[in-house]
Parts: sequence; C-alpha cells; structure tokens
Amino acid sequence: MATTWQAALDAIVGELEPELIALRRHLHAHPEPSGQELKTSLRLYQLLGDEGLSVRMGPAGCGVMADDPASASQPRVAFRGDIDALHIQDEKLVGYRSTHAGVMHACGHDAHATCTYGAATALHRLAARGLAPWPLAWRAILQPAEETASGARQMVEAGALDGVQRIFALHVEPNLPVGAVGVRSGPLTANCDHIRIGIHGRGGHGARPHESRDPIAAAATLISTLYQYVPRATDSLEAVVVSIGRLCGGTNPNVIPERVELEGTLRTLEASVRLSTMEHIQQLARGVEEITGAKITVEFAGSIPSVNNDADATETLRTEAAEVVGHQNCHLIARPSMGSEDFACYLDHVPGAMFRLGTASDVTAVTPLHTSRFDVDEKALAIGAKILARSVVATCEPRGE
Ligand code: NI
Repeated sequence: MATTWQAALDAIVGELEPELIALRRHLHAHPEPSGQELKTSLRLYQLLGDEGLSVRMGPAGCGVMADDPASASQPRVAFRGDIDALHIQDEKLVGYRSTHAGVMHACGHDAHATCTYGAATALHRLAARGLAPWPLAWRAILQPAEETASGARQMVEAGALDGVQRIFALHVEPNLPVGAVGVRSGPLTANCDHIRIGIHGRGGHGARPHESRDPIAAAATLISTLYQYVPRATDSLEAVVVSIGRLCGGTNPNVIPERVELEGTLRTLEASVRLSTMEHIQQLARGVEEITGAKITVEFAGSIPSVNNDADATETLRTEAAEVVGHQNCHLIARPSMGSEDFACYLDHVPGAMFRLGTASDVTAVTPLHTSRFDVDEKALAIGAKILARSVVATCEPRGE
C-alpha cells in the first residue's frame, strides 16, 4: 500500500523530533527581548538556509522568511511563529534555563519558532523526497517583537504576505494537556488599545492642598471612576476590560506634584463596544476634570485588532489536528480570550487561523504564561509542527473548477 502524504509528513517530523527539542532548548537558554532578536534570527536563518530553503532576513536583522525555492509561482500558504522573549527572570531549575539575566521565553515563543522551523523543514523534505501529493507553495514567517505588537506589521511591510493566500499559526496553551489542541472559528483574542492619560494639576505643599490642584487625587478618582462606570455603561453580556498598569507621579511625600501619568489597556471583543468605550472614557475624564480642576488628556496610542479566525482555515486546522491528536483531544474553544495577539495584523490582509497547542504535563505542571517558571512539555513540539505542515499541504490541494 502506498504511504499517504500524512503518514510521510508525520514520519519526517518524527525523525526531526530530537533536533526540534535541541533547538527549543537552545532558544530557551538564549532568549532575546522584543526588537533585539538578532542571534535568534541568525540561527534560524542559518538552519533554514542549510536545509536548502531560500531565506530572507526581516527588517534590521530581526525575523526570517523562508520559501521553498521549488514553489516560486503560485499563491502561497504562510505559517508564522514569533521569536521574542520577555523581561522576566527565569526561576526554573532545568539545564536549559535562560542564561540571559532578566530575559526569558515565558510565552512559549521558543516553541512557536521551533514548530515553525519543524513544519518548514518537514514540508521541504516531503517535496524533496517526491512524496508531496500535489505542488506545494508556502512561506514560513518567523516574526520578531510580538510582545510589543510591532513585529507583525514590520514583517508585512517587508513583504511577508506578498503572494500569500492564507496563513496559519499556533500559540502554546498551558491550560490544555500536551496531546490536546484547541480551535475556534471567529474571534479568538480581544481588541487591545493602549491608553495613555496625562493629568496636569498645580503643585503645592502637602500641608495646604487647597492651594493646589492635586493630580494624584485626580488620578485616584479617575481610576476608581473608570473601574466603576465603564462596566455600568456596557451590556453585561459584552466583554470590556480596562486596566491601568502604570501610575507615575510625584517624588516627595510632602509635595503635591504638577503632573501624573497613567497608562493602561482597554480590551474588547466587539468593534462597536470598543468605540463606545473609548468615547465613554473621554467623557468620564471630562467629568473628573470638573470635580478636581486638573486637566486630563486621554490618548489611545496604538491598537491591535482581535484575531478573527476564518471559518474555512479553522476547519482545515480542526481536520488536521483531529487526525494528529485524535478527535477526543481536539477541543472547541468556547470563549475568546481577553488577551491580544499581533497575528491579527496578518489577518487584516489574508484569511487564516490560529490554534492553541496544549503544553501542560505532570513534568511542567500548570505554569501560567508570562510567569517566571513557565515551561512547556516538549512532546508538543512535534504535534505543533505536524498540524502546521499538514494544514499547509491540505490548503494547497488543487480545487476542481
Ligand atoms: Ni505569546
């Protein structure tokens, strides 16, 4: 009996598995923060180049794109992995713990990069061995600066989506066991808007607040007003979150400062809720100006849209994932996450979908994303690579006219 392409692809990923684990450990031990992924990019560039792929560096030496040189002319199917790490001190006691003080792969981007590399290598070898069922046209995109929400845009501007008709990606999911995946059609992550607030008061002596316009008191009032009234103005069945994560003002215990700065994030799922909440925040700020006499400016500086998974692309992922991990381990994600993900920027240009790759096991326990003991079960690497590679082949299947 002839081997199916699925079995051939799985076997190639199986051969690659020790190399994938070694690569992931190397990346984990040598993390680089967003915008500084020079060595990570160079390593991936060399590995993919050595494999015989045509590789290009991303802008300023960060990020890599790899195409199969045999598939020049058709619309391509892209798959994307991000490569940046976070400013967190690694507190794990494992051989591959971060060797860079205060920097760590705490969001699994080392695993995403490895799965992307694994899928690219497997697809290339499948075609090179003459086992591809039809012509394949694809591009691997290894993207910098996901955590600062700038890398996807940079890669798109550098031409990452030129000639691309569809795009796939994955994100590790510590709340799912290794061997399970999650898929969802429609919104997967939230719209994310960065809020910047300036409060300009009039400084003075802490003993005589009546002679000043206290911006710290105004900041306190504004924060509690936002937390109290934003939810009251939104249908309770619609999602909205406002969080202030940075509050900066004053230097002396007995001096009322001139100015306070706040920064925060607004998360929504619906475009209409996003716009009405932005308007409402401006209104509440004007109200607090009235009460306190301080001048308040509110700016929405930079936004990432929600990842909206295409129904067709999601169905491809679901079908392939169910074959790799079994139907019972392929879960439908009931609700979107209020997190954000700059994969959304690609989806502004081409349809595609992201799935969640289970990475929890007894070995790693459940270590949440963005924490100092985050780790993944490395059995997930081959699973992720297989699902990405199979989804690319399935999407390339010629459709009869
Ligand atoms: Ni992430």
